Amino acid sequence: MNSLQFRNFRLVFLLGERPSLQLNSLVIFAGWVITQNISMLGSIDVLSMALSRCCLLMQNADFFRGDNPEGVEARNEVAALAMEDMIAWMQEGGQVGIFDATNSTRERRNMLMKMAEGNCKIIFLETLCNDKRIIERNIRLKIQQSPDYSEQPDFEAGYEDFKSRLDNYEKVYEPVEEGSYIKMIDMVSGNGGQIQVNNISGYLPGRIVFFLVNMHLTPRPILLTRHGESRYNVRSRIGGDSLLSDTGEIYSKKLSNFVEKRLKSEKAASIWTSTLQRTILTAGPIVGFPKIQWRALDEINSGVCDGMTYEEIKRNMPEEYESRKKDKLRYRYPRGESYLDVIQRLEPVIIELERQRAPVVVISHQAVLRALYAYFADRPLKEIPHIEMPLHTIIEIQMGVTGVQEKRYKLMD
Ligand code: F6P
Repeated sequence: MNSLQFRNFRLVFLLGERPSLQLNSLVIFAGWVITQNISMLGSIDVLSMALSRCCLLMQNADFFRGDNPEGVEARNEVAALAMEDMIAWMQEGGQVGIFDATNSTRERRNMLMKMAEGNCKIIFLETLCNDKRIIERNIRLKIQQSPDYSEQPDFEAGYEDFKSRLDNYEKVYEPVEEGSYIKMIDMVSGNGGQIQVNNISGYLPGRIVFFLVNMHLTPRPILLTRHGESRYNVRSRIGGDSLLSDTGEIYSKKLSNFVEKRLKSEKAASIWTSTLQRTILTAGPIVGFPKIQWRALDEINSGVCDGMTYEEIKRNMPEEYESRKKDKLRYRYPRGESYLDVIQRLEPVIIELERQRAPVVVISHQAVLRALYAYFADRPLKEIPHIEMPLHTIIEIQMGVTGVQEKRYKLMD
């Protein structure tokens, strides 16, 4: 039997690599749980799109019966293999792993806690939902989208099978009452709800709670674009705070037409820029939406190299040039920043973007947008400094229950 696979998830991106902090490894267990009048699936739209998917084998509901010893054994075996994988990954330096499984019995959770002893800390995450409509919607989404049912052509048969799977879980469900845990109760709709936090302390666990409180999956677009071409871009100079070139000004007008058409029925939308002139001027022609300046959206600080061309850096500071080439992610400009620094300072922007229920247009810079884009598109950390982020292009990211979709618009062709 294959062990389950882990993939990065947006929270792991946020918390994954902290150059300045030595953090303990930690695992979250997403326990989707049933109580008498509550079904585990209420949680799916909060969690399943955000928490990475583990591959489940194609099995029918009988496999999930608590009184089917082979099924229980097989599921425990898969869980143990996944846990071993995760521990091995943490021993190689991983900091936050997400174990996405039901883990709805005390016995299963005890097994996992034993395996974690001396290796990592565990936080259980239990989500509960009392809203029958959400549960119904999520069952339907599950049948349509889950690999568990990809080979089941008959929707109704899949639906009935999944309902019996839920019944089987419900029979053996024991609420999480042990160890460190977070319970999210009826938080899916965004209309209140409750969060219970037990035995959680420390920076990283605190950030996880903060993230979970702020995230949701109401469909809305996020539009990312670099500023229009700047005078420094024309002269291949990095950094600075220059004005727009003539071409850049044309882009700002085209962007404004695009945004006004695309978001005309979106009264609550907002425009976010950095504090640098080139983004503020790019947003200039857009009217009818509030504009917010974020220092955290300013371009990577190139320190002593600010205002130079890459050629000049290569000629005058060859060691700096080579060090950056060798490890662009970690390289920090003297008296400036590294990509890791940029990623770290973007955390509040990302949390705010997660929290927004209306569209947001983010007008920022190459390095910053690479990091933001990587977060939403689930791109690995090491790729971030090399992601293509052309001028005069809008990347529309559609957030929602079905995950993240992307469209690109080139306005100057
Ligand atoms: O050249 C435009 C620019 O935004 C510079 O201001 C910035 O230093 C650079 O891009 C970031 O890209 P890279 O990390 O590839 O040098």
